[in-house]
Amino acid sequence: MSVRIAASILSADFSALGAAIAAAERGGADLIHVDIMDGHFVPNLTMGPPVVRSLSKVAKVPLDVHLMIEDPDRYLEAFVRAGAAMISVHVEVLPHLHRTIQAIKDLGAKAGVALNPATPVGSLEEVAGNVDHVLVMSVNPGFGGQTFIPRSESKIKAVRALLDRQGSVAPIEVDGGVDGSNAARIVEAGATILVAGNSIFGTGDPERATRELRAAATLKAGV
Ligand code: DX5
Ligand code: ZN
Repeated sequence: MSVRIAASILSADFSALGAAIAAAERGGADLIHVDIMDGHFVPNLTMGPPVVRSLSKVAKVPLDVHLMIEDPDRYLEAFVRAGAAMISVHVEVLPHLHRTIQAIKDLGAKAGVALNPATPVGSLEEVAGNVDHVLVMSVNPGFGGQTFIPRSESKIKAVRALLDRQGSVAPIEVDGGVDGSNAARIVEAGATILVAGNSIFGTGDPERATRELRAAATLKAGV
């Protein structure tokens, strides 16, 4: 499957999100990644459904909404109504993960499950056949601009193996510290959706950075 770039607006200028999205799209972004933080599950606050609704009016590509919140079940409908095409929820906060995945699908969005760096791959075992995508956190969630945790590479391979064993073709999305220096290795490990915030919006030219990230991701690692 071809590589998709999900531009994370967390590192963009929040007073000009429309322009940030347009620049990433001109550079070829396939998805706009929207980080929702509640100050409880993660030590940061971002935005809620009203902002997502406004973003959905200007984005031409689908919105990929990453819920880093304690009680995602309460807000699923609001985010789908606001325009989320993909929703990722964290296994760490969900006692009834199977039900939550079904609820996202019933609302008409793609359902993804996110794993923190310390969360074992085995936590996916019982839902691997149900998910539309798996989000592997390669930094501890909460902030943009952190360094990729090297062990994430073997975790991506293990998630891919688990999905394959269960006959699932669900793509793996990798989130945190993705840039031109590691993108090819991440893809080689088995990920096909690369989330990038700082390496796109932390540059002076997000359009060009998006294009360069895709070029880096599609190069063979080590070549
Ligand atoms: C972090 C968020 C990420 C963040 C990634 O908690 O989930 O989506 O924007 O940012 P970078 O690419 O800067 O690590
Ligand atoms: Zn994210």
